[in-house]
Amino acid sequence: MEIIYAQNNLKLGQIAARWVAREILVCPNLVLGLPTGSTPIGMYQYLTLLYQEGIISFTQARTFNLDEYVGLTADHPQSYAFFMSEHFWSKVDLPIENADIPRGDVSDLAAECRRYDDAIQNAGGIGVQILGLGSNGHIGFNEPSHNMEIHTHVVDLTPATIRANTRFFSFSGAVPRQAITMGVGSIMRARKILLLVSGESKRDILSKTLYGPVSTEVPSSILQLHADLTVLTNIKLLR
Ligand code: F6R
Repeated sequence: MEIIYAQNNLKLGQIAARWVAREILVCPNLVLGLPTGSTPIGMYQYLTLLYQEGIISFTQARTFNLDEYVGLTADHPQSYAFFMSEHFWSKVDLPIENADIPRGDVSDLAAECRRYDDAIQNAGGIGVQILGLGSNGHIGFNEPSHNMEIHTHVVDLTPATIRANTRFFSFSGAVPRQAITMGVGSIMRARKILLLVSGESKRDILSKTLYGPVSTEVPSSILQLHADLTVLTNIKLLR
């Protein structure tokens, strides 16, 4: 495991974008696993800049997003598809057919889960997975639980996640109660993982993630078992 310290959130975005850009330059047809949320916004902004400067191109890349809310259409402003379109897909030259995200608005969610896993497998699996960290240790929407799901699945969001994500909605009742998420299997099979963690409020969960016992109650702790994990954070952990 490598830990990279970023002085602030701005730097974190720049370093993350340069890290991803290096991977794209080495492997233009990279399969990227991507997160949404507040933490990666800076990374998407700097990736956009690097693209605009002609340094990187995504024409051969493929991307798979981690998750989507159940019940929201892609044009709902709080859907993760909308977020991706606003922050990344519409800003760079990634062919839209190369950008995949689970659909939360379909009637047969089980079939959608199978479709997503098949699509990831047909692409050869995730090469580089970028992750954010939930305050309760979720990665994607793999929530604390008694077990860990390997495959893409539908998950009931925990009260902590609903509370944390209320900031994006008008009131807590508007936050969807379920999501569809990539499973821990696809995440852990990625060749490389970059975990982005920003803000003092995540100090405790970051410490548990990296140095606590590996437990399904802290899903992110499984990342300790990954062979090529880089953690990029603006939190200085004393250890
Ligand atoms: C979102 C996702 C989540 C977020 C996590 C942190 O696609 O996978 O696991 O990464 O909830 O979100 P922020 O960055 O908003 O604190």
